[in-house]
Amino acid sequence: MKLGIVGSGMIVGDLLSFIEQIPEIELVHISGTKRSEEKLRTIYQEHHFQRYSTSYDELLNDEQVDTIYIALPNHLHYTYALQALEAQKNVILEKPMTSNIEEAKELQRVATSNRLFLWEAITNQYLPNYYKIKSLLKDLGKIKVVECNYSQYSSRYNAFKEGNILPAFDYTKSGGALMDLNIYNIHFVVGLFGKPKDVHYYPNIENHIDTSGILILEYETFQCVCIGAKDCKAPLSNNIQGDQGCLHVPTPLSYIGSMELLLNDGTKEIINDNKDVHRMYEEFMAFVKMYQNNDYQQCYEMLEHSMIVTEVQTIARRKAGVIFPADEKHI
Ligand SMILES: NC(=O)c1ccc[n+]([C@@H]2O[C@H](COP(=O)([O-])OP(=O)(O)OC[C@H]3O[C@@H](n4cnc5c(N)ncnc54)[C@H](OP(=O)(O)O)[C@@H]3O)[C@@H](O)[C@H]2O)c1
Repeated sequence: MKLGIVGSGMIVGDLLSFIEQIPEIELVHISGTKRSEEKLRTIYQEHHFQRYSTSYDELLNDEQVDTIYIALPNHLHYTYALQALEAQKNVILEKPMTSNIEEAKELQRVATSNRLFLWEAITNQYLPNYYKIKSLLKDLGKIKVVECNYSQYSSRYNAFKEGNILPAFDYTKSGGALMDLNIYNIHFVVGLFGKPKDVHYYPNIENHIDTSGILILEYETFQCVCIGAKDCKAPLSNNIQGDQGCLHVPTPLSYIGSMELLLNDGTKEIINDNKDVHRMYEEFMAFVKMYQNNDYQQCYEMLEHSMIVTEVQTIARRKAGVIFPADEKHI
């Protein structure tokens, strides 16, 4: 895979900390804004990219790049991904996929009609512990209650309160707790149980943005609560509760660490199938495998999953009045 990257922020730093462990990925081109030129040059030198640029057109026109990783603020995901697909590049799009379902559907249409790969970079869907949870569900009996809580006080919230509004807290940039943290919970739950029959979101709103909120996902036979908070913290706790036992995950659902299976018959088992690798390693390995095997079917199945998640976040937000500029032409 001949990779181009757009963006040089926090998540790109994470990616670069492990990506050289995947020899099938060739780092070709890193691109960003003029204001980040110094940073781009440093990354290009330290990680042996072939080129860097401060113009997205240069990346789009780079014939040696076949896949573009888009690591930009949420509101830019759609336009940057659309341009990349139109330039016949595969796309790895950071989570959350797009601002809303209409944008996501358009990207899906362009990707599939051009037979291009389009992946949402959502760590939890590719983790061994997630596959393990899928296989353990039957041991829990009939599922009754699911509870996910990703509450992480953000240093960017301090800046927000002082009036310095960074993208993750900016409603004009499709930010907020649902898009940033609760989205992991939605992916987790939808990947295990499919599309909920109804959704309700109860946000705490400051300056037009949900700094935290409680999402209820109603399923045919059980209820699920997903909490995402950037303005307060709590011990991380996720529980899938069935009439035969509970699976307890005491880590963020972005990487699903060691977990406990607690059955009604007294069985208590600590389970951890994850390897000792960066939380993003498995998703990038999966993308490379699909790419090498021309496995569009798996890619498009994952894309369908991302569509359901994006639809859930869109409906939840709009019902609760958390509306982004990107929504306005669709409502
Ligand atoms: N998968 C994960 O675990 C994970 C974790 C964190 C974040 N993310 C996602 O990754 C994305 C980026 O998050 P982040 O934390 O890395 O954000 P960040 O630190 O704020 O970085 C954003 C980057 O986008 C660049 N940028 C902004 N506007 C641009 C434009 N018009 N054209 C080109 N580049 C532009 C910025 O460059 P300048 O500084 O020059 O403006 C910066 O390099 C978000 O969608 C977020 O949800 C994913």
